Amino acid sequence: ATLRETSFIEKMKKTGKNIVVFYGSQTGTAEEFANRLSKDTQRYGMRGMATDPEEYDMSELSRLTEIENSLAMFCVATYGEGDPTDNAQDFYDWLQETDADLSGVKYTVFGLGNKTYEHFNAMGKYLDKRLEELGAERIFDLGVGDDDGNLEEDFITWREQFWPALCEYFGVEATDEDSSIRQYELLVHNDVNMNKVYTGEMGRLKSYEIQKPPFDAKNPFLASVSVNRKLNKGGERHLMHLELDISGSKIRYDSGDHVAVFPTNDAKIVTDIGKILNTDLDIVFSLNNLDEESNKKHPFPCPTTYRTALSHYLDITNPPRTNVLYELAQYASDSKAQEFLRKMASSSSDGKEALPIRPKIIVYLHSCGFGSSFPGGASW
Ligand SMILES: Cc1cc2nc3c(=O)[nH]c(=O)nc-3n(C[C@H](O)[C@H](O)[C@H](O)COP(=O)(O)O)c2cc1C
Repeated sequence: ATLRETSFIEKMKKTGKNIVVFYGSQTGTAEEFANRLSKDTQRYGMRGMATDPEEYDMSELSRLTEIENSLAMFCVATYGEGDPTDNAQDFYDWLQETDADLSGVKYTVFGLGNKTYEHFNAMGKYLDKRLEELGAERIFDLGVGDDDGNLEEDFITWREQFWPALCEYFGVEATDEDSSIRQYELLVHNDVNMNKVYTGEMGRLKSYEIQKPPFDAKNPFLASVSVNRKLNKGGERHLMHLELDISGSKIRYDSGDHVAVFPTNDAKIVTDIGKILNTDLDIVFSLNNLDEESNKKHPFPCPTTYRTALSHYLDITNPPRTNVLYELAQYASDSKAQEFLRKMASSSSDGKEALPIRPKIIVYLHSCGFGSSFPGGASW
């Protein structure tokens, strides 16, 4: 076994990176934003890496000055009573007690939160302030994303102002080069041992069939629902009282703890996507990260089947993010549809106006010329 590198500074030096994008993420949004920012760096002749603070020694932050034109970016979500995410907890604890001298370290923060919570974006705000107190230099203002409004729009608006500011700061220019460089390669496995194929589990293979403690987000305990009661009679909302049986799991419940639900997508939508794409959903495949230095080898557990990926690992019911639309546009066979997709993906005011009415991925697949027709003459 190889020793895991715990120094992100050494890793940056070895792999020629100058921008590190740390994420504090529970359900993946901040992680995805960090990945997009990291990918953006190529357009400015920089090299970024999206990084989980839990995997590295964060007290090395002051050493960032050893790397020329370096920058630390942070995409951090807030939870609970204004708390950090689990993967940012150690970093948060360190920040509170350290008296490290971060002078010369350049940084910027984008926070993710939700206005309906009392401690709106507390983690982003704290980090932004604390890094300054420790002597670091803020090169661009804190961004605060609101998941109750339109988080995607908040993010792209912040990002489109951030990059020009960075260019000015470092005296670099954007290249025209399209940054839609492929991140993963597709491998189809024709001859594979089905026991090695993921069927919806998030971490360890077969963890749903053979339940082994300790249980956590990556190794969830399958609790059965012992009580399920509808609470409200009238109104539009559907309020439920649920009781989960966790006996035998060694999990303790404290008030304020939350439960994560791993939903399964509607089988009908999955089969429809298979039909539109004219694809056998039971094909076994892997998506492998082309960046061999990345800690994340696959975007979700691989090898798996298209059906499993679409049922368990991918979000197919929310409107796709603008970067997905941008990638999709190049496959449109109809030039009008292509133009529309580009517009939806752009951060122009037209594109932004269209954001709230963005349809689901399945409608785009139709409009790209896959499948037989536009769905029922839909006017987007
Ligand atoms: C259980 C729970 C608690 C949350 N608590 C807060 C909070 O205290 N303050 C806040 O601004 N946002 C809060 N949020 C909103 C999240 O920060 C926001 O949805 C964010 O986009 C999640 O990012 P992630 O997917 O990277 O974990 C909470 C969300 C959940 C699900």
